[in-house]
Amino acid sequence: MSLNAADLLPADGRVPQRFLRQASPAAPRITIGVGDVHVWWFRPQDQSARSRSPGGGGRSPAGRKPLEILGAYLGRSLAEQDIDRTCEHCGHPHHGRPRLRGDELSFNISHIEGRVVMAVARTPVGIGLEPISAGRLVLESASTIFTDEELSHFPGRAALDVHTAAWAWCAKEAMVKATGYGLVVDPRDVLAPLQVPANTWHPARFIDGRRLWLTPAGLPGHCVCAVAVSGESPQLLTVRAWPPPERA
Ligand SMILES: CC(C)(COP(=O)(O)OP(=O)(O)OC[C@H]1O[C@@H](n2cnc3c(N)ncnc32)[C@H](O)[C@@H]1OP(=O)(O)O)[C@@H](O)C(=O)NCCC(=O)NCCS
Repeated sequence: MSLNAADLLPADGRVPQRFLRQASPAAPRITIGVGDVHVWWFRPQDQSARSRSPGGGGRSPAGRKPLEILGAYLGRSLAEQDIDRTCEHCGHPHHGRPRLRGDELSFNISHIEGRVVMAVARTPVGIGLEPISAGRLVLESASTIFTDEELSHFPGRAALDVHTAAWAWCAKEAMVKATGYGLVVDPRDVLAPLQVPANTWHPARFIDGRRLWLTPAGLPGHCVCAVAVSGESPQLLTVRAWPPPERA
């Protein structure tokens, strides 16, 4: 005996919701090439959760979206327990560079008010995001952030300086995050180029000898974003809003 669609439909001919849901094809896994870096940006899910508790149990403004994004690469759903926050340097259980347990995929997150960015790569990656206006605060603390040589590039407080200062801070932050040290490293020991043209990976040596690559990620709005990645010369950087239209 063979069935046709009409046999399965109720008498009123309307397709039950459960069949419609099953009919839509599952979104394919996102793939990422060796050397490529993907940057996803989205709105924070919980604006009130500004920071994690020291114990690592606090809510992140990013909410569950980072897990959702990583799950789209791995083809399965993830929980917070799948993320290891153990410090690679001192073994502390909570302040380390977050990593996926048992998977090579690497990621990093940065948040400012109204926006979260997440970088995904196959080698350790760090990302920094700042509103351009934060460059003013950076300039106010310039002597604690920049070397004398770097400071010589900031002769005034012009708009260009504010932008450059915001970028340079982001670049240093991306580098300390890619290495997992965070800001226990003196920013003056992190030498970041004060300008990197779009679509260019700039080599940058970290103080522990590690070779990093740095590039700006162009995002809409008045913000700057820097991505640092370790390993061989990276290839393609793509920047997209999450979810992409095919997954919305
Ligand atoms: C990493 C650090 C610079 C981030 O600063 P921030 O002001 O919170 O800035 P951002 O919004 O850009 O980054 C936050 C994200 O960084 C990531 N992060 C936390 N610790 C990290 C580390 N050690 N390395 C890389 N990334 C880290 C997290 O994903 C966090 O987001 P989440 O809480 O939503 O998961 C800062 O938290 C820091 O310096 N921490 C101290 C690290 C430390 O103690 N190191 C000691 C090594 S022995």
